[in-house]
Amino acid sequence: MERFNDIEKKHLADVMETGVLMRYGFNGMRNGHWKAKEMEMAIREKAGVKHALLVSSGTAALTTALAALGVGAGDEVILPPFTFVASFESIMMTGAIPVMVDIDETLCLDSVAVRKAITPRTKVVMPVHMCGSMAQIDELQKICKEHNLLLLEDACQAFGASFKGKMAGSIGDAGCYSFDFNKIVSCGEGGAIVTNSKELYERADMYHDHGHDHSNNDRGAEGHPYPGYNFRICELNAAVGCGQISKLEQFVTVHRKNKKILKDALSAVPEVKFRRLPDLDGDCATFLSFFMPTEESARKATAALKAAGVDGTFHWYDNNWHYIRNWDQFKERKFMYPMYKQLLDTMFDYSKVSFKQSDDIISRTISISIKMNWSDEEVQNHANKIVTVVKSVL
Ligand SMILES: Cc1ncc(COP(=O)(O)O)c(C=O)c1O
Repeated sequence: MERFNDIEKKHLADVMETGVLMRYGFNGMRNGHWKAKEMEMAIREKAGVKHALLVSSGTAALTTALAALGVGAGDEVILPPFTFVASFESIMMTGAIPVMVDIDETLCLDSVAVRKAITPRTKVVMPVHMCGSMAQIDELQKICKEHNLLLLEDACQAFGASFKGKMAGSIGDAGCYSFDFNKIVSCGEGGAIVTNSKELYERADMYHDHGHDHSNNDRGAEGHPYPGYNFRICELNAAVGCGQISKLEQFVTVHRKNKKILKDALSAVPEVKFRRLPDLDGDCATFLSFFMPTEESARKATAALKAAGVDGTFHWYDNNWHYIRNWDQFKERKFMYPMYKQLLDTMFDYSKVSFKQSDDIISRTISISIKMNWSDEEVQNHANKIVTVVKSVL
């Protein structure tokens, strides 16, 4: 299946025809083309939320959402140690303290661990819906309500996933998506914040554009009630996203079909267990994640799968970006985050903190990325290869 086709080309041509790359202003020149606004409308419809703000990346979306939620120095934000490092970085950028707690077999935040980590300084619980499926979000929502905490969903890897009919990102006080080059819907680079709160949306809208209140067509005369940054999306990226988002359901259907073939085949291997999905029908199926019996068998299987040509095989335990174990950049603190010295000394010292449960799960987890462009024959070949390889290391 082709990822990009004439739909994206047409949206891009619209932008090139006007020459307006900026998402705001230039009203007289735009010939009716507002690609960022158009994609925001599509996100609102898909997510079933009142407000959506398109920004330049998922990282920018998280940073903006945290700022708009009023998170800052001294606040604690609870997140999992299994995530892309951007979730952690965005909290650090606000000056708040990231508090990592264990995941469970959903590969997302464990609600029992979250409860234990709450302190008077906790402000936000930030589940990360990893690898195309969601956390046990109803439990996390309950905890937030009980303790009067904000719920921010990092749904950067889960656009198109849902829990009991509600889209990932739409359940918390705010949710964030990534539309980077590697995501199911891509702008090349891009991200979004969704929320049902008008106030939160307005703060995010201002923060992501130097505080502009976007009140008229003269940027020089616009009000600036807040300071901010530049996390704006470019119309070219938004144009690609407009095409992509119109194909979301089609993309999810293909992912699900291909994933089912791999999962059915691997189900014949009794030693293999699958990731727990809180809602089977809400999986956007970008990955098949399963547990090997031991760390050693996971490592061997990963190497053998790669050698057999199964591209997109991940053993997250050894990956430098998605699990705390290898985040040496924070341990060494070569040039950033001096104010976090003491915190980082503790957080990355395994003799002081324990991620025993996460270590046990992640050291045995393998995820295989599901491709859309596989032919039926290629999916079946992949399924056969995966089963043969996994059996061979057991
Ligand atoms: C869980 C998670 N959060 C945040 C991000 C950051 O998104 P971006 O690459 O668009 O900045 C990613 C990107 O992969 C991610 O996987």
